[in-house]
Amino acid sequence: MENQSKKTVFSGVQPSGNLTIGNYLGAIKNWKQFEDDYNSLYCVVDLHAITVRQEPAELRRRTLETLAVFMACGMDVSKNTLFVQSHVSAHAELAWVLNCYSMFGELSRMTQFKDKSQKHANNINAGLFTYPVLMAADILLYQTDIVPVGVDQKQHVELARDIAQRFNQTYSDTFIVPEPYIASSGTKIMSLADPTKKMSKSDENANATVRILDSKDDIIRKFKRAVTDSGSEVRFSEDKPGICNLMTIYSCFSGKSFEDIEKEFEGRGYGDFKLAVGEMCADSLSPIRDEFAHLLSDKAYLENVAKEGAQKASYLAQKTLSKVYRKVGFLAK
Ligand code: TYM
Repeated sequence: MENQSKKTVFSGVQPSGNLTIGNYLGAIKNWKQFEDDYNSLYCVVDLHAITVRQEPAELRRRTLETLAVFMACGMDVSKNTLFVQSHVSAHAELAWVLNCYSMFGELSRMTQFKDKSQKHANNINAGLFTYPVLMAADILLYQTDIVPVGVDQKQHVELARDIAQRFNQTYSDTFIVPEPYIASSGTKIMSLADPTKKMSKSDENANATVRILDSKDDIIRKFKRAVTDSGSEVRFSEDKPGICNLMTIYSCFSGKSFEDIEKEFEGRGYGDFKLAVGEMCADSLSPIRDEFAHLLSDKAYLENVAKEGAQKASYLAQKTLSKVYRKVGFLAK
């Protein structure tokens, strides 16, 4: 259970598509380092996913699969609390309270809201707008110290900090003010079809994304087709966004520096390099794929992990929620 002397780490992933190497390199891969020294909670955020229309059966399937991906990526269930957001009702409850301490203006400035409302112009629902408040509730419920995420979520974590500070100033210290944790590389993996765009699990172009669970052949094929830049030299430079993205991916999987990669591929051209990136990526992901298949063969076990995770998370969440209810003036039950 919770160790009071330890700090807390929390992060979440939406089950809104098949997880990509962006989710892996930018977020999940960085989680394991915390499991011994922190109270660690990781959540499949299904409440967030319905801000965009989802097919119900698919959402249910992907929710359990996302949990299995966390585990296949090495998250040890005896050291990390893994759970599903809708199983812990305190998330929605705190989100309502925090909505009343979040400003229309600050929510309007969120770049993800602006992007998503352009992309889903026929469904700009209120949930899409208040999405970051629910995310703040996720984080603040567990008195989280650090939130490991990719660059695209930094603005949301900063908003969670602002909301926490505002609440603390109004009612005295209630929430820990969380810090985003952005790793030194791999925190913004770009699309293989358009290296000026973030790789996204909801991208409709299958060639734009490499999924954690793609087969080796598919991974190699996708890297071979990756859009690169003019020229033929493997060099990290601003005018080569396609090559920079591939070098970043290769570096994250191999641990090699950009300098070493440039040396390794000197005089060899893009074709050789793309094949090497594909092979490195596919081989690195292969144990995850195997473990995922193994885990998915026992759904009852996965459901039990989710159930136990939700019990532990609910206990912690309830402590914060009760404190908040008391502070804002709700009558005790
Ligand atoms: P989501 O589901 O879009 O992404 C999950 C995590 O993956 C990171 N990520 C990337 N990193 C590098 N390159 C990319 N191309 C890339 N794409 C995604 C994201 O930054 C994220 O860390 N709102 C969040 C989920 C969430 C959450 C939370 C996160 C809900 N509540 C509380 C942290 C704390 C989201 O949509 O992530």
